[in-house]
Amino acid sequence: MLIALNNKSYLVKDEFISYLEKIYELESNDELILIPSTINIPLVDSNKILLGSQNVSRDGIGPHTGEVSAKQLKSFGVKYCLVGHSERRIEQKESNYDCSEKIKMLLNEDIIPILCVGENLEDRKSGNYKEFINNEIRKATSELNSEEIGKLIIAYEPIYSIGTGIIPTNEEVEEVFNIIKETLPTNKLLYGGSVNDDNISVLKSIKNIDGFLIGGLSLEVDKLEVFLGKI
Ligand code: PGA
Repeated sequence: MLIALNNKSYLVKDEFISYLEKIYELESNDELILIPSTINIPLVDSNKILLGSQNVSRDGIGPHTGEVSAKQLKSFGVKYCLVGHSERRIEQKESNYDCSEKIKMLLNEDIIPILCVGENLEDRKSGNYKEFINNEIRKATSELNSEEIGKLIIAYEPIYSIGTGIIPTNEEVEEVFNIIKETLPTNKLLYGGSVNDDNISVLKSIKNIDGFLIGGLSLEVDKLEVFLGKI
């Protein structure tokens, strides 16, 4: 399984350095991808763990103050990058078009995009979630050829589940995976949203799952160790 550890904007420098020492020591048969806050990326030894970024600029190297380009990420050993995390879609007003531009930038540098999709509670309750998720995928991939599309990893993260402790049933996740598989039959699929060392025993039996995108739990190394032992 692929386990992506999204640190969000937690951990100041000293905290991150001691966290990193413990992360390097973790034993696991799974592939761990550490996705730290951008400012902490240069502190990671990318020979010791797979390295991811939480964001990338829509633009290349150039006059884009405050942005970090895909080429710069690559030069620090970044191999994966989140695109369209719901926190960015909501707080930074990131659109499906932004996602599409970012994905193209990443693929040009051989960085694997992890495209995050998922509905809010309103769309879940109204039954609009299938159309909503299909639309997110269709728009983010509209300018890619099939070989490029095949490189994406898709993370299904229902918005109501992120950081709330509420998780969908396995059947609900499987239904969404099946919808995604109709257009992307071979892409790796992750689930994210309130994954922890307790509910992993249930979530790991989701059909067709290739891994998990985890937020809060990524910061608690002791619990993470228990979690990895249960997969
Ligand atoms: P959570 O976050 O595990 O804290 O719910 C997941 C995510 O935002 O990727």
